[in-house]
Amino acid sequence: MKNLTFAIPCLFGLEGIVGNECKRLNLANIKVENGRVLFTGDFEDMAKANLWIRSGERILIRLAEFPCKSFSELFDNVKAIRWENFIPKEGAFPVKGYALHSQLHSVPDCQSIVKKAVVERLKDAYHLSWFAETGAKYQIQFGILNDVASIYLDTSGPGLHKRGYRARANDAPLRETLAAGMVDIARYRGREVVYDPFCGSGTILIEAAMIAQNRAPGLYRRFAAESWESSDSNMWASLRSEAKNKIFKRDFRLIGSDIDENALKIAMGNAAKAGVAEYVRFKNCDVLKWQPESESGIVITNPPYGERLLDVQKAEALYRTLGQVMRRNPNFPTYIISSHQELPRLYGRNPTKRRKLYNGMIKCEYYMYY
Ligand SMILES: C[S@@+](CC[C@H](N)C(=O)[O-])C[C@H]1O[C@@H](n2cnc3c(N)ncnc32)[C@H](O)[C@@H]1O
Repeated sequence: MKNLTFAIPCLFGLEGIVGNECKRLNLANIKVENGRVLFTGDFEDMAKANLWIRSGERILIRLAEFPCKSFSELFDNVKAIRWENFIPKEGAFPVKGYALHSQLHSVPDCQSIVKKAVVERLKDAYHLSWFAETGAKYQIQFGILNDVASIYLDTSGPGLHKRGYRARANDAPLRETLAAGMVDIARYRGREVVYDPFCGSGTILIEAAMIAQNRAPGLYRRFAAESWESSDSNMWASLRSEAKNKIFKRDFRLIGSDIDENALKIAMGNAAKAGVAEYVRFKNCDVLKWQPESESGIVITNPPYGERLLDVQKAEALYRTLGQVMRRNPNFPTYIISSHQELPRLYGRNPTKRRKLYNGMIKCEYYMYY
């Protein structure tokens, strides 16, 4: 299918990064909006985006967008979509979505209206009165924001942050899509030594390693659209083999440290599963004693934020320590994500730049010192 519009929802703050990723993939009509990036293309572009996008959450086909203040507007516009072009007779088509700042605010009601409209459309198209929905899944999503409804079909299935390497997580793992965005903002392209002195389960360094190798993040997982009736398995196979040929054979070094032995074990397991263990070393080290192992490099890190009172004091002490340690190491541009508003004061220096980023629902700043 040609000339479809796709939407890539992303964490707030990462829109520009996802837009640049789309440019690097030569996608057409890229539009960067709040919380999402749009592009147009065909199923091959959709497959490419699923395999290669690092910082977006999923690849959706945007089927319609319309002003919507009533259930009848929702029903009529959803029924007008040519669902039969996508969903076969046996297809399963669950519906989920959200409604914000809109007259239609009951999500369960909107959900059942959308479902009913699709059923009515397919009944007419297939001359059937009942759908068993035993086949592949065609997840329908709706979003109603400021009285404008967007209707999507999800091509990804599990979110794109599921790369397939995270066997186990520690307490506060960073989402892979955000970690990749942080590495991209730090302009790491595989040359410098990267350090993460609060590495936890190693997400930042594993994402950095995949970027250094130019390894498609979705290479070793499957996507919902692959089980669709219209799916062209040869096309997916050839995109995968092309992606494998694009992996660089280069030498680079990444060093993670943490005081939690259990997190370090998880990090090593994850790096092995991601196929980057030979490039990443994890070691037990208190940030107080942190020392680089190279003349220069980049520090990218996600220290504890200290959400509870006692923990806040501990987190603040860690920011002071990190500031002192980095003052002794001026050749190391340092990138820190934290929700703590006072980080620059505690760290002892104003950042060269800062940028709002959301770590899930937590509003953070990405403090950049260089
Ligand atoms: C927010 S977590 C990092 C999560 C990591 N980005 C991930 O994706 O798993 C913060 C980490 O800082 C570590 N940490 C706390 N105090 C530390 C210290 N004094 N020195 C080094 N690491 C410390 C914790 O063990 C924890 O793993």
